Amino acid sequence: MPSERLPWGSQPCPLMLAPMQGLTNRGLRSVFGTTVRPDVLFTEFVRVRPKSKKIVTPADFVEATTEVPGIPLVVQVIGSADEGVIEATRSLIERGVRHINVNMGCPWGRMTSVLAGGGMFRAPETVEPMLRELREIVPGSLSVKTRSGIDDERQIFTVLPAFEAAGIDFLVVHSRTVEQKYRGVANHDLTREIVARSSLPVIANGDITTTQDARRVLEQTRATGLMLGRGAVADPKLFHRIRGTAADRPTGTARREQLATYLLRLLTEYEALFQGDTQILMKLKSVFVHVTDDDQARWLRSLKKQKKVAGMRRALEDAAR
Ligand SMILES: Cc1cc2nc3c(=O)[nH]c(=O)nc-3n(C[C@H](O)[C@H](O)[C@H](O)COP(=O)(O)O)c2cc1C
Repeated sequence: MPSERLPWGSQPCPLMLAPMQGLTNRGLRSVFGTTVRPDVLFTEFVRVRPKSKKIVTPADFVEATTEVPGIPLVVQVIGSADEGVIEATRSLIERGVRHINVNMGCPWGRMTSVLAGGGMFRAPETVEPMLRELREIVPGSLSVKTRSGIDDERQIFTVLPAFEAAGIDFLVVHSRTVEQKYRGVANHDLTREIVARSSLPVIANGDITTTQDARRVLEQTRATGLMLGRGAVADPKLFHRIRGTAADRPTGTARREQLATYLLRLLTEYEALFQGDTQILMKLKSVFVHVTDDDQARWLRSLKKQKKVAGMRRALEDAAR
């Protein structure tokens, strides 16, 4: 019986857009939400600032409360209990946030030197009390997004019981270790084992870039749903392709037209959200790096050389025709 708190309700096989720092801002979420409509959207992680007067920045509050109508928004927090994650979550909830996800997977810098992000694996005993406190205050779903461990993918099994005991609603698993960063491939045999050994709905994440990948991962893992990251940023229609409402990814001119149409929408959003040619184009170009189609490489290189928004717009309009 699915929990009524689940953001996707009773819908089978929810497809979610992954939280991605620097990418899944409200502009990109709006483009995805109004075109391919993921079943659930996530914010980039909200960083808790324990030493600052404002534990959550005003900018993060805006991000956390800007929703696409009809699509549940899960706000991701990163930080440990003694770093103020509870207080930060409370202030988000006071502003109307319903769904909270705790990041236990971030492999980068400061986040892993303290007991936050992937660093939480260093102190598994702190996980359950923190989640229990959050469970008390979160009105909607409480979930965790985790990697498989720091340097050993079996570490996940030391924290699984804590997730269940604390009463979280679902678990998102990216089956790589923190140390692996993005090397190698996600181990979906491990995802399958986690699904089998957990009573929680598990969302599988990692290296799903085609309809075939999606089908294989679902069959292999028996996960409840899928979370799409880099593959969707490179090809938003992946959501439609997996649902069977769009054909497989085309090549050549057709692919370029789809990309240009997507990037034009994004450019319009980014012009409203960011300041000046440099920042707007930097944000847009950070999307390009995830597009790996060989036959678009030359065109993308030419777009990367654009220094002005007007020039970029013209180049995209030419290609979108
Ligand atoms: C640029 C970038 C930023 C990311 N930021 C976050 C983040 O803020 N929170 C998080 O839980 N995961 C973050 N991730 C990890 C993704 O959510 C996802 O777990 C990972 O990319 C694997 O999925 P994929 O192979 O579909 O991309 C980030 C990944 C990338 C590439």
